Amino acid sequence: MNAPTRPQEAIPAPLALLAEVTHRCPLACAYCSNPLDLDRRSDEMDTAAWLRVFEEAAALGVLHVHLSGGEPAARKDLAELVAGGARAGLYTNLITSGIGLDERRLDELVHAGLDHIQLSVQAAEEEAGDRFSGLSGSHRRKRDFAALVTARGLPLTINAVIHRGNIGQVEALVHEAIALGARRVEIAHAQYYGWALKNRDALLPSREAVTGMRATMARLRTETAGAIVIDYVPPDYFARYPKPCVHGWGRQSLNVTPRGKVLPCHAAETIPDLEFWTVREHALAEIWESSPTFNAFRGTGWMREPCASCARREVDFGGCRCQALMLTGDARNADPVCTLSPHHALVEKMAGAEPAARPPTRRGYAAPA
Ligand code: SF4
Ligand code: FES
Repeated sequence: MNAPTRPQEAIPAPLALLAEVTHRCPLACAYCSNPLDLDRRSDEMDTAAWLRVFEEAAALGVLHVHLSGGEPAARKDLAELVAGGARAGLYTNLITSGIGLDERRLDELVHAGLDHIQLSVQAAEEEAGDRFSGLSGSHRRKRDFAALVTARGLPLTINAVIHRGNIGQVEALVHEAIALGARRVEIAHAQYYGWALKNRDALLPSREAVTGMRATMARLRTETAGAIVIDYVPPDYFARYPKPCVHGWGRQSLNVTPRGKVLPCHAAETIPDLEFWTVREHALAEIWESSPTFNAFRGTGWMREPCASCARREVDFGGCRCQALMLTGDARNADPVCTLSPHHALVEKMAGAEPAARPPTRRGYAAPA
């Protein structure tokens, strides 16, 4: 897959850019979906390179930039990055653990034009929060940070990743998000990529727990209406049809890694034979429109049966290419989460498996907290 390719139809502009500005992070969550082979600090693009990416993204039609990581606050130039995104006309969203952002740094971000903050929370109380994040005192620091954010009138969303260890706390997590002053809470099951895939056996909840959680979420949506908006991302392995991963490959979004590789999705580098162009060597528009990787699974032309003739092929786009690869060995297969996939029994087996006795492996490569 080396020669640039041009698809037949006009390619719509992407809406969002996920800027993974660093893989450094003070936390060590076992459900981290970052790759096992993390980019080092010395690999990271500098401020000027990121600002050029934001300008190119805006020119391409991108509306939102999500500053993510790792922990974006590990970068000393975070306020400059926010200012660059805002100057380019992008809506700037910071996805953070809150660790490393004190009052002074938050004021710099507000001054730079930051529009929104998504704060990760691992549990509803301190002991479990610290245990899941791997950093003592982290939950208390997150609470303090949330208070600083809301005091400045900045809209706040709480992100909570759900797994076997905290699935019993979802109700408490929603109430914690309300107490923290959030306008939205995203309750999302762990996605099994990177470190989370390595720890899947220890993280996957039981079928009974997932069924109970669905009922809890439905009740909470009614009970908390007007107090908070709940976004619920159900677990893949217990679904009837797969998620439309990244809203379809090369349709709405692109990820730029700390070293400048441009990916259609978070885990694309796990797919062999794809060649990832970088913003160091190519313009973002050229990558979006012409790179072999973005065109590899764009649209429906690449599909095999049962997806090729399925009525849902433009609803879920065959699910997740990376998950199809991980579980079936071929990224062109239907995501085996789909009950129509000939490989679906693999997922059924995993969803019914006994909990693992071993503790999960924590992701490494921390930044100073
Ligand atoms: Fe989606 Fe393919 Fe399953 Fe149809 S067969 S629902 S397109 S994954
Ligand atoms: Fe790669 Fe879903 S994570 S397509």
